[in-house]
Amino acid sequence: MSKIKAAIFASGTGSNFEAIMETEHLACDIALLVCDQSSAGVIAKADKYGIPAFVFDAKQFPDKTAYEKAIIDRLEESEVSWIFLAGYMRIAGPTLLNRYEGRIVNIHPSLLPAFPGMDAIGQAYRAGVKTTGVTVHFIDEGIDTGPIIAQEEVAILQDDTEESLTKRVHKVEHQLYPKVINQLLQTK
Ligand code: GAR
Repeated sequence: MSKIKAAIFASGTGSNFEAIMETEHLACDIALLVCDQSSAGVIAKADKYGIPAFVFDAKQFPDKTAYEKAIIDRLEESEVSWIFLAGYMRIAGPTLLNRYEGRIVNIHPSLLPAFPGMDAIGQAYRAGVKTTGVTVHFIDEGIDTGPIIAQEEVAILQDDTEESLTKRVHKVEHQLYPKVINQLLQTK
């Protein structure tokens, strides 16, 4: 039986992309990278793994509906049925949400609903909380909102710097995301 095909959407470095690609026995084939930043590090990572990349510039489209339609065309061409956001810094609109309803998942570096949005690790660090973590959730039209699938805590230690905390949070992300992807797809 052929594996489920999935796309990863990313805008940045791509450490989560890489962690997914390095997972043994991943329950899906990563068929496509979708990226909205032509200078993002994740593009070279896709190249390294031989994954085709659809890189788009939102400014070249009249609106979100138009670029999401272009994304969907490319996803359908690659027979993608699931989408995993890994540092994709755009809010999905109804065009994408309706086409892939219940099959778009995001990872976020905080214990949502705490610290949504940009720089969640820095936000938690500066807030002086004792615990932060990682959330994997289905997306909706909000910023880092939608039904939570899994969360893992990360303690903020007394001698943590923002850098040391960031390293530990990323480590948890890299383990949690592939695990949750497999759990989700194996129950399908
Ligand atoms: C990750 O920490 C991811 O959780 C976060 O962006 C980073 C991307 O890093 N996503 C969000 O903040 C979503 N709101 P990466 O490019 O190295 O995977």
